Amino acid sequence: MGREVERARIAVAEALENKKVAVVSSGDPGVYGMAGVVLEVAALAKADVPIEIVPGVTAATVAASKLGAPLVGDFAVISLSDLLTPWELIEKRLNAASAADFVIVLYNPQSHERTEPLVKACEILLRYRGPETPVGIVRQAGRSGEATSITTLKGLLESEVDMATTIVVGNSTTRIVNRRMVTPRGYNLQ
Ligand SMILES: C[S@@+](CC[C@H](N)C(=O)[O-])C[C@H]1O[C@@H](n2cnc3c(N)ncnc32)[C@H](O)[C@@H]1O
Repeated sequence: MGREVERARIAVAEALENKKVAVVSSGDPGVYGMAGVVLEVAALAKADVPIEIVPGVTAATVAASKLGAPLVGDFAVISLSDLLTPWELIEKRLNAASAADFVIVLYNPQSHERTEPLVKACEILLRYRGPETPVGIVRQAGRSGEATSITTLKGLLESEVDMATTIVVGNSTTRIVNRRMVTPRGYNLQ
């Protein structure tokens, strides 16, 4: 983290020397990953090299599978990191996605130094959603130390959350079914 442009430049330079280069990016490289910066750096360098983007499984769908089935309808993914995106724009997106009743997946929720964004995000979400709205929290998904919990919007700030955590905030229809988080698709089950 923090050396993405340098890594992309090295990869492009090596490829221009006719080497086969793999840029490793966790989850899906096209979701907050290295794919975009590699394409941009290659274009700037006018590097006419073939670039293949290999899709992966993004944290949102891994987290969803651990929680139950919260993403079977429309959902939005929002990163709370304001390193590359102005906070005002993140707030605008949180308001818009909340108002439109999307299930919301939060990436980059908080670190030791950066706790304010999650507090502000909770404030915004609570303007549109009830305090009992189900919220799923998945840390270190698929890795050792994996931990999954289901809480509510009002309990979110008491939960353990770090940068290796993905948070899924339910919409107005999301509920707990046999201890799993489910957003009904709308089927008639009678
Ligand atoms: C810069 S984004 C990279 C996302 C990655 N490209 C993907 O598709 O999953 C980093 C954020 O993804 C989420 N994340 C990545 N790996 C995770 C994991 N193993 N468990 C839970 N969340 C994860 C966290 O919210 C983390 O702050």
